[in-house]
Amino acid sequence: MARAKQGAAGEGAPGEATAAPAAKPAAKPAAAAKPAAKPAGGKTGPSVTAKPAARDTASILAAARAGSKPGPVSKADAPAGVKAALSEAGRQARADAAGPRRDGPKPEAAKTGHEAPSRTAALKTAPPMPSRPPKAAKVEEETGRRGFLSLAVGSFMALGFTSLAVTGGLFSLGLARFLFPNVLAEPPSRFKVGFKEGFPAGKVETKFVAQYGVWVVNSDVGGQQQIYALKTVCTHLGCTPNWLEAEQKFKCPCHGSGFYKDGVNFEGPAPRPLERYAIKIADDGQLEVDKSKAFQEELGQWNDPSSYVPV
Ligand code: FES
Repeated sequence: MARAKQGAAGEGAPGEATAAPAAKPAAKPAAAAKPAAKPAGGKTGPSVTAKPAARDTASILAAARAGSKPGPVSKADAPAGVKAALSEAGRQARADAAGPRRDGPKPEAAKTGHEAPSRTAALKTAPPMPSRPPKAAKVEEETGRRGFLSLAVGSFMALGFTSLAVTGGLFSLGLARFLFPNVLAEPPSRFKVGFKEGFPAGKVETKFVAQYGVWVVNSDVGGQQQIYALKTVCTHLGCTPNWLEAEQKFKCPCHGSGFYKDGVNFEGPAPRPLERYAIKIADDGQLEVDKSKAFQEELGQWNDPSSYVPV
């Protein structure tokens, strides 16, 4: 009896186990997801393994609502059908990423049976490239502008340096000019004024004043007719007196000193008579004046025969 009851109970249990999950599949998805809904007798019925996909979807939805990890999230946890789909999708993605194959027909060509156009044909049919992009033209324009500015600045700098060099050269020449005297050759101290016949008695010759600074006079001095050469330098402060023919005297324009025809001072601030230069008759018979020798009256030098030529 006991075995019969157990057998009856064992036979009736599968029916109850299959009836229970089928009665409330949607009302308690969590309970249905539990694989522990096995029959009491420890046998697994065919209805338990026949609904894995339904349980997965339900578990995913339940997990999404509960905020927890959904059911199978890895490829290993996915069912066989899902695995196959994922594998196919991954292979397709890798094929797309790798691009068209060189050694075989393209995927589209393999699928459609039509060969894809070659790269050369694609390049031939591609629109021509513009000869000069606007950006390149702009860059070239900027480069040309910079070159012009550089050339202009360089030209101004070159002009400035050239002007500076020219100015420096002129300044150096002007500075070097001061290193040399204005008169390179002084007049000789000895010079010939002509024959005695060219100097009549009582005559004061003034034509040698500008060139030699001397008067040649033929005058009576102490009862002796002489030809002598007077120095045209005032004994006061060095001015050049003027011969006044009408007044028969030398008059200094600076302070008014006056000198007689023989050179003796008689008015003004001049302290002493004019000086004489040495004079003689040269080998050719002309009168020759030597300015390297001077004779002063106050010193009694006018008595020196070198200070006059007797007529
Ligand atoms: Fe001739 Fe003074 S310089 S009078």
